[in-house]
Amino acid sequence: MWSQKLTRSILDKTKNTVFKVPRWKPVVSSRCLQTEGRTTQSQSTVDAADVEFFSKQMNEWWDPYGKMRLLHSMNLLRVPFVRDGLVNTAQKELYPLKDKKILDVGCGGGILSEGLARLGAFVTGIDASEDLIRVADEHKNVDPKIAYNKPVYLHTTVEDHAKKVSNLYDGVVASEVIEHVQNQELFVKSCVHTLKPGGRIFFTTPNRTRMSQFAVIFLGENVLKYIPQGAHQFEKFITPTELTFLLERNNCHVELTYGVTFNPVTGKWDFSEFQQLMYAIQAVKLS
Ligand SMILES: C[S@@+](CC[C@H](N)C(=O)[O-])C[C@H]1O[C@@H](n2cnc3c(N)ncnc32)[C@H](O)[C@@H]1O
Repeated sequence: MWSQKLTRSILDKTKNTVFKVPRWKPVVSSRCLQTEGRTTQSQSTVDAADVEFFSKQMNEWWDPYGKMRLLHSMNLLRVPFVRDGLVNTAQKELYPLKDKKILDVGCGGGILSEGLARLGAFVTGIDASEDLIRVADEHKNVDPKIAYNKPVYLHTTVEDHAKKVSNLYDGVVASEVIEHVQNQELFVKSCVHTLKPGGRIFFTTPNRTRMSQFAVIFLGENVLKYIPQGAHQFEKFITPTELTFLLERNNCHVELTYGVTFNPVTGKWDFSEFQQLMYAIQAVKLS
């Protein structure tokens, strides 16, 4: 009883903090999407059940008050995080990422890809869900601010993309993805393969702690219902130490690890020293 009341009052408060925008619904077309060749199952990072789960959220992807609301509000934290990792923001510019090629791995419906394209980045978004790539591909036509800089979306996995592309991107981003893949080692290795030496790679993900199991899965999914129920499996969460190890084993040096916190009363995300719930990592690829 108390939790329902608490949930309702928190939801009411957070709704007021989000800027109202008209709702957009995908009208999925049957036209062909760009697809890349496939790897065999044994070398795949795809957990088919997980990808299917996210495909089912396609109609709600761009609803800022819907099940994907946390990905929308998180852009206020993660877009500047990526920007500051790629350019010196002491020089104020309208399009600070204008010369940067960025790969958004597991881009879903394109929430982060569009946020980065708005800062001028040339974004390639890839996802294992064909439905979500269709959603992203349609939605890129909605915002006039990216009319001349639309992201390119490909229905593929990073290991397949890495077979075609090496040492190309200035930045590779995997935000809220590594906790959904299988074979995290192959995932990190493939992401790094596509990155230029000197380029930077960014992850955001939940930590694997009892506290994150309680806050992200129990509270976030089951009580507050901020996250679609069943989205996370605790065993697939990865700790900052494990992710650092995978990055360093793949020729990267970890430069930053920040704790990431969410305040359900204000609806705002923040960086902090507290890494027990979620964290963000930035690493540079060595030569
Ligand atoms: C929680 S969503 C995050 C979407 C996006 N990164 C964002 O933050 O807005 C996770 C996404 O990862 C995708 N995904 C899961 N496993 C994948 C894999 N092995 N390769 C590529 N995409 C994958 C899912 O289809 C889903 O779109």
